[in-house]
Amino acid sequence: MKFLFILFPLLCVVSAREDHHDVIDVMRNLQLRSLVQLLEVADLTPSLEDADSCTVFAPSDAAFAKIPDDIKKQLLSNPLFLREVLAFHASPKEYMSTDLKNNQLLDTLLKGFVMRINIYPSTNTITADGSPVSNADNKGSNGVVHVVDQVLYPFPTGTVDSEISHNDNLTVLNTAVEKADLASALDGEGPFTLFAPTNDAFSKLPNGTLPSLLKNVTALTEVLTYHVVSGVYYPAGLSDGEKLKTLQKGSLVCHVNAKPGSESCTVFAPTDEAFSNLPADVRKQLREGRLLLLEVLMFHVSPNTTMSTSWKNNYIVATLLEYLCSIRINIYPSTRVITADGSVISNPDNRASNGVVHVINQVLYPQPIQSIAKEIDNIKQLKELSRVVEKAGFGRILNDAGPLTFFAPTDDAFQKLPDATLQNLLKNVTALTEVLSYHTVSGVYYKAGLSDGQELMTLQSGTLECHVRHTPGSGSQVEVNEAKIVGLSVPALNGVMHVIDTVLFPPK
Ligand SMILES: *[C@@H]1O[C@H](CO)[C@@H](O)[C@H](O)[C@H]1NC(C)=O
Ligand SMILES: *[C@@H]1O[C@H](CO)[C@@H](O)[C@H](O)[C@H]1NC(C)=O
Ligand SMILES: *[C@@H]1O[C@H](CO)[C@@H](O)[C@H](O)[C@H]1NC(C)=O
Ligand SMILES: *[C@@H]1O[C@H](CO)[C@@H](O)[C@H](O)[C@H]1NC(C)=O
Ligand SMILES: *[C@@H]1O[C@H](CO)[C@@H](O)[C@H](O)[C@H]1NC(C)=O
Repeated sequence: MKFLFILFPLLCVVSAREDHHDVIDVMRNLQLRSLVQLLEVADLTPSLEDADSCTVFAPSDAAFAKIPDDIKKQLLSNPLFLREVLAFHASPKEYMSTDLKNNQLLDTLLKGFVMRINIYPSTNTITADGSPVSNADNKGSNGVVHVVDQVLYPFPTGTVDSEISHNDNLTVLNTAVEKADLASALDGEGPFTLFAPTNDAFSKLPNGTLPSLLKNVTALTEVLTYHVVSGVYYPAGLSDGEKLKTLQKGSLVCHVNAKPGSESCTVFAPTDEAFSNLPADVRKQLREGRLLLLEVLMFHVSPNTTMSTSWKNNYIVATLLEYLCSIRINIYPSTRVITADGSVISNPDNRASNGVVHVINQVLYPQPIQSIAKEIDNIKQLKELSRVVEKAGFGRILNDAGPLTFFAPTDDAFQKLPDATLQNLLKNVTALTEVLSYHTVSGVYYKAGLSDGQELMTLQSGTLECHVRHTPGSGSQVEVNEAKIVGLSVPALNGVMHVIDTVLFPPK
């Protein structure tokens, strides 16, 4: 009797916990080690734990092992890509296998991308974007997990071409693009704007036109390239009568009708110069599809109209990549500069029929939303800093406090220190914390917001002095004390990080 009495409450506890197992717990129980680990790296675990309902198509460890090496490398070296690929495996609604239909398109957590379900009754198989479900309906408290045997292909690489192949209304165009072998052109160098005719549009062609076009690659290529414009044009950025030069060399004329109630949006529009100023390595990344074209473009558009008069310092603007990234507005009264993620807004508030265009002087890079502490861990040349931050327990501040500006010394900067200095620092947490606090400023200061001679009060309470030199062509060179800011500023969830080439020490 006694034995039963003890056993019974224990069983209750266990089953109560079963009820509260969220989808992450379910994945752990299914021993999906790679996936659980990668979700952690991509910082997606909290989103799935907190979701009210979701469906995860969860690749097995074997599925991850099968990924080609070059893609594996990209996944591990590019957190944004990883995040996208994983977000593409989950849907914000719960679908048990019995809820799924053949050819159903499920929204994914990667906004704008859908996955296609297919059901093959003859073999009793369900596939998600072609990947077979091997173990369906693992129910958790806030959703369901279906194990799949392959990581979902094609990856939502977000190039214009892959966008076409995922859209049900563009199957004719997709066939035509394949036929003309234009896919590789659209996949490559950009940015492009594609005016994509729908199936309905093709069906309006005179009888016989489409079949004969599909037979003549030269003619087909001409027609298709006439739909592609070099540059980025969102509807809000087009004006009535504007002419756009196409890749085919002919021009398209825009007719803009202001429709009341049409969707509004905000475009942060980089100038042509901004595109040409992109560093060579970024251009290369864009070409290779690593910093992916579509996401870069989507990152420049907000689904709401937002005028500069409604902005306050540190105002956050949601973008079409909402799930992944947003833009931080900063206002610097001293220099009268407004920046969007550090890019100067040179010409704000250009009203368009269905929104507003703010012209900016640098292309914005979509960054995964991560804290400064996480960014440090992600960047290769900040290994020593990462170690030092951990030693001092300073990660708590760089994770949770904000908005902050953090000046991050590179490994080379630490190398320049006399051996004894670093060794002594590592032994004395108080001193180490002082040094790190001296690299930290309350408030978000992008380079464009700093002026020559400006003093920044640090958390250590000593000040840093800014030296700003404008060099024509290459923007401005900024130094804090004797440290030079190198490379691009890194936007973070709780502020901004600048990489510097020298470790700073507070004055005695
Ligand atoms: C296809 O077109 C229909 C009708 O215009 C629209 O409702 C639907 O959202 C479109 N589908 C996609 C994937 O764009
Ligand atoms: C195309 O041909 C079909 C019948 O073959 C006819 O019903 C249709 O009206 C024609 N369409 C056009 C645009 O000529
Ligand atoms: C294919 O199209 C091109 C360009 O429109 C044209 O010059 C050529 O004569 C066509 N070839 C055939 C075999 O119809
Ligand atoms: C857009 O504006 C509306 C009304 O001001 C607001 O409710 C909504 O949250 C905004 N959406 C985004 C994505 O900022
Ligand atoms: C550690 O550093 C603090 C601050 O620089 C200093 O006051 C203290 O004496 C140092 N402690 C040791 C043991 O060196």
